[in-house]
Amino acid sequence: MQENISLKPYNTFGVDINAKYFIEVQTIEELKDAVNYSKDHALQVLFLGGGSNILFTKDFDGLAIKLSLKGIDEKDINENEILVTAKAGENWHEFVMYTLKKNYGGLENLSLIPGNVGTSPMQNIGAYGTEIKDIFISCTVLDLTDLELKTFSLEQCHFGYRDSIFKQEGKGRHVILEVSFKLTKKDHHIKTEYGAIKTELENSAITHPTIQDVSKAVINIRQSKLPDPKETGNAGSFFKNPTIPLAQFEDLKLRFENIPGYPNGDVVKVPAGWLIEQCGWKGKQIGNVASHKLQALVIVNMTGNATGKEIFDFSTAIISSVQEKFGIELEREVNII
Ligand code: EPU
Repeated sequence: MQENISLKPYNTFGVDINAKYFIEVQTIEELKDAVNYSKDHALQVLFLGGGSNILFTKDFDGLAIKLSLKGIDEKDINENEILVTAKAGENWHEFVMYTLKKNYGGLENLSLIPGNVGTSPMQNIGAYGTEIKDIFISCTVLDLTDLELKTFSLEQCHFGYRDSIFKQEGKGRHVILEVSFKLTKKDHHIKTEYGAIKTELENSAITHPTIQDVSKAVINIRQSKLPDPKETGNAGSFFKNPTIPLAQFEDLKLRFENIPGYPNGDVVKVPAGWLIEQCGWKGKQIGNVASHKLQALVIVNMTGNATGKEIFDFSTAIISSVQEKFGIELEREVNII
């Protein structure tokens, strides 16, 4: 266990704050020991995965536990399907690349998402027409109330858009240890209906894409507009895309005729990036913080020296602008600590 260490290397925003205590765990036993230590010493705990969806706004006065459990396991289900289980500390993108190398289908649209496997169920990560709920079978967790291992099935996870039981009723109660996915070995379900993928494949003159082609297309799209956290600190989309009632959307359409929206029954999902851009934030920098010049929904630590508070205040200013212009309240997607 280390004392007073900077968590800058452990969050993709690159915010420099200190944790009073820090430990990296590689096994369930080490994790239990760390949790018991925190209980014995009345320390608050914070679990760190890939640090790609977190904003630290102040020093952390407890025990930060970095989850580094590693390993990937495979079990045949039938001729066409395989159950692949990865431990929480596996890097998400490396895991996706591993499955594609073996020609297992299902995760290709989720290529290049930052973070680790263990945090993927938290917010039901999704991109380009796929969410993990589409291939998720179960996850094993450590229940912090009794230190027992438990399994959550797809139904029990209550997955929604960037949402799960682990962010709601179960918040702070479970540490995800491993996640199992059902992938295809052949007869892959190629998903190219998301506009940008189609265009990207057409540009490369690919008419019958493989899962590897879809992955490459997704990687190209992401690299063309999303900043690489290794170069410029960020946590991907900072806000969720808001869902508003159809009547409110129709009202807005009268005033803003180009407003994009994806209707679903009597509600409409509106791209937050568009709303933020319309308020003049795209590419705008205040101090060390900016809204990304190619994707307004992504807030970036431009200079590398931004404090968490600066980033948080910047996000508050965006929320106020969007509220004032459109009457829509944006909700942060990133966890604020
Ligand atoms: N748009 C703008 N201006 C912008 C950004 C976007 O007008 O600055 C418009 C685009 O023109 C487009 C629409 O907004 O019509 C949607 O944009 P995009 O395809 O980039 O997707 P998004 O809704 O902004 C979501 C996810 C991303 C995911 C992409 C692709 C959320 C909060 N974000 O972004 O996820 O990669 O779709 O599926 O749902 C993440 O969660 O960190 C993340 C990057």
